[in-house]
Amino acid sequence: MVYESPTLVPLGLAGGQGKTTVALMTGRILAKLGIPVLFIDADPQASLTAFLGIETTERPTLLEVLTRSAAKVPLYSAIHEVPGCENLFLIPANDELESANHALAASGMSINVLRKRLYQIDEDVAENEKIVRNFGLIIVDPPPERSHLALTALGSADCWVIPAEANIKGVKSLQRTKELVESCSAMVPNGELLGVMPFRAKWVGLNPTATTREAIEVMKVIVGTDKVLPHILESDVYKKAINDQILPSELNKSDLEYPIKFLINLIKKRLGPFAEKVADLEGIAA
Ligand SMILES: Nc1ncnc2c1ncn2[C@@H]1O[C@H](COP(=O)(O)OP(=O)(O)O)[C@@H](O)[C@H]1O
Ligand SMILES: [Mg+2]
Repeated sequence: MVYESPTLVPLGLAGGQGKTTVALMTGRILAKLGIPVLFIDADPQASLTAFLGIETTERPTLLEVLTRSAAKVPLYSAIHEVPGCENLFLIPANDELESANHALAASGMSINVLRKRLYQIDEDVAENEKIVRNFGLIIVDPPPERSHLALTALGSADCWVIPAEANIKGVKSLQRTKELVESCSAMVPNGELLGVMPFRAKWVGLNPTATTREAIEVMKVIVGTDKVLPHILESDVYKKAINDQILPSELNKSDLEYPIKFLINLIKKRLGPFAEKVADLEGIAA
């Protein structure tokens, strides 16, 4: 089998659950390890495009990829280098992406459209010339509502992670997201749910706050204890890192990267020739 980059999709049917944060930090850590990452911004709010410092006037965007043929808009033409970041690439979005929902609905197969385009399925391209061979990981950042864009993002995945705020809103988002994944699983038979990542968990000293503890307990009941991954702590360092376009470790807070490194370790076996570059993730048992 020829290596093809796997696709990771953080999912969550509510805003503010950490989808874009998990996407961004996972990509930045991999890029720093020397692994090329292709981001795909599938949210018309275009937070990921903005966080990467790419102008929303860039063309083509994901809209053209989803609504025009490969002959008219080849995949490579929509892949933009992220300025100042070696190994990071992006298919950007802007608010016009919303209109892709109509085209996807009309296609009647939203779940397959992005996957087909990314992996150049049914295109006249030799296996060893496929664009996905060049990347260690593709990360798709979906919108927060149950739309055709969310479906096409979900269907493009080899693996999903569900970030969910460590509070009642997060638990509700997790419940709805899990139902969506289950209702689509027959159409994405190879998709794997890696787990739930509690987001903005609040700790006071050695103990979680009551809200955080209760939310994480309920998450364990919903998906099983072994599927609740290490949490992302509530921290201004994360917000600053996002704004400054860097990693928490560059603010001397590498411990805050632990949950993302844990996630990377879970997908390591899928990274083919790039896996050896993640051999030495500090603090994570192989
Ligand atoms: N560790 C953190 N602690 C507190 N706030 C955070 C943290 N990480 C990210 N944020 C902020 O949380 C907000 C929502 O996160 P985001 O990843 O955009 O959610 P989503 O993509 O699910 O809508 C963002 O404004 C981000 O700056
Ligand atoms: Mg987002």
